[in-house]
Amino acid sequence: MPSEGAAVHSNHAAPVRLVGLDDAGEPFLSGDRLLRGIYPGQASTVRAVLATCEANDLFQHGIVRTRELPRSPHPDLSYEMVLEHQRVQFVSYPHEWPGSMYREAALFHVRLYERLQEHGLTLKDWHPYNVLFEGTTPVFVDFTSIIPIADLESQPYLNRGPRPRGVAALWDGMSRAMYEMYRLTFEPYFGLPLAMMHRGQHGAARRRVFETTLNAAASVITRGETFDGDLAGRLRCEIRDRLLRGLLLERGPRKRRFFGSVRRSIERTNAAARPSDYSSYYEDKNEAFATVPSRDWTNKQHGVHAALTQFRPKTVLDLGSNTGWFSMLAARLGSSVVAVDLDEASIDRLYLAALREKLPVLPLVADLTRPLPEVFAKTFDDEPSLSLLGDGLPLLRTATDRLRCEMVLALAVVHHLALGQGLDFREIAATLGRLANRYLCVEFVAIDDAMITGDPGFFKAWNAAGDSFGWYTRDNFITELRHHFSEIEIVPSSPESRSLLICSKQGR
Ligand SMILES: C[S@@+](CC[C@H](N)C(=O)[O-])C[C@H]1O[C@@H](n2cnc3c(N)ncnc32)[C@H](O)[C@@H]1O
Repeated sequence: MPSEGAAVHSNHAAPVRLVGLDDAGEPFLSGDRLLRGIYPGQASTVRAVLATCEANDLFQHGIVRTRELPRSPHPDLSYEMVLEHQRVQFVSYPHEWPGSMYREAALFHVRLYERLQEHGLTLKDWHPYNVLFEGTTPVFVDFTSIIPIADLESQPYLNRGPRPRGVAALWDGMSRAMYEMYRLTFEPYFGLPLAMMHRGQHGAARRRVFETTLNAAASVITRGETFDGDLAGRLRCEIRDRLLRGLLLERGPRKRRFFGSVRRSIERTNAAARPSDYSSYYEDKNEAFATVPSRDWTNKQHGVHAALTQFRPKTVLDLGSNTGWFSMLAARLGSSVVAVDLDEASIDRLYLAALREKLPVLPLVADLTRPLPEVFAKTFDDEPSLSLLGDGLPLLRTATDRLRCEMVLALAVVHHLALGQGLDFREIAATLGRLANRYLCVEFVAIDDAMITGDPGFFKAWNAAGDSFGWYTRDNFITELRHHFSEIEIVPSSPESRSLLICSKQGR
């Protein structure tokens, strides 16, 4: 975190609100610093939570590092106190996480409950939007969701459920609140998407998680849709639910048996996407070499390595990363990497490899031809906004807003976007220009490349209207890139029908 000296310098930066839907406070940017203003009347609780976290170093369990500022850099805003959080470099959303990462976020969250409850604290909601990833490491960022355990029962949203019947009539107040939180947040946002993934329905899980984004949708994922056509699965789900309800008969605030059972059921879930045609790409091409320079490497591997070592970018965005050979190379050379691919099996493999090798790679599933639109929260009449900074912010921000990096890699992907998916060079170059703060290393694959001529059916747009693709030339691509990059160097790739275009913006 920045030192006190930095605090004085940024006093004049106007606050830029970040989205947060909390009645305790709101996060905002002040210059480069991530602050959270705490609303009047809330400071004593937040201060008590912070003191417990500090005294027991609960931050080591993945809670975002946080401290109270001795004085607000924005005294004109009537917050009762101001917190500073360590910033997570890249914001990612649950529907972008590959299955294994989703499962990791779920495990991390339930373990956090277990840890906090040893210290008289708990969380007031249980959903994946509380979590971001720093590389492969989950971070709990919603600090004001942490509350004293005794305050859980009075959370208004946990007191609107149906009257307890059956075994629930025997629960204590804490069990009622915990189950309601589980039912309203864990199950639709963690439990059911993971169950879909366990059944191999990753695409549907991802789509539904996006469609039911918290506070932006009127509906949530249901048991009915999750187990549609799977009677045995539905039955197991109902039995598990009854078991959990039984475990909540345990008295006292901690509910260890309940949380232990939820944790074990996540541990038993296999959320990884099954192998795809793409997920052994480097092995199939005999290019799965170690990422230390060697004579076995192809021209392309040497060319990208040379660009990375020349520019030493702090951050790299690898578009169409596949299983991330180049992402891992960049990470080993010291860059923080975001890797994006459409193929979930490849991205899942990359996540597990980066986790194993402790490399700073954030692997995300996304389709470059369908960028995420901004998504706004719904406003609820009974939950008026308390923000001192105003409303109208998107709940989900576009990738170009969140994932810009010093260098972009776009290797063997432009021909997929153009010949396969029908994007033109202007669109592709504009996207690359927006995402790259300074450098771009993009590979151009000529139309007579053996991979293209050998399987023309694979490149659907070209196949459907081959004659009208005369514009697909390297010179035309370079012309479009020149609108965004002032210098462009051409370097051989491999085979000869491919080349690397090393592009930089002015003032490098
Ligand atoms: C030929 S591989 C290249 C992998 C790696 N960049 C390299 O050069 O070694 C192309 C990759 O682009 C991905 N891809 C194709 N179209 C995409 C799209 N619209 N969005 C995201 N990824 C895409 C594929 O899934 C595949 O993993």
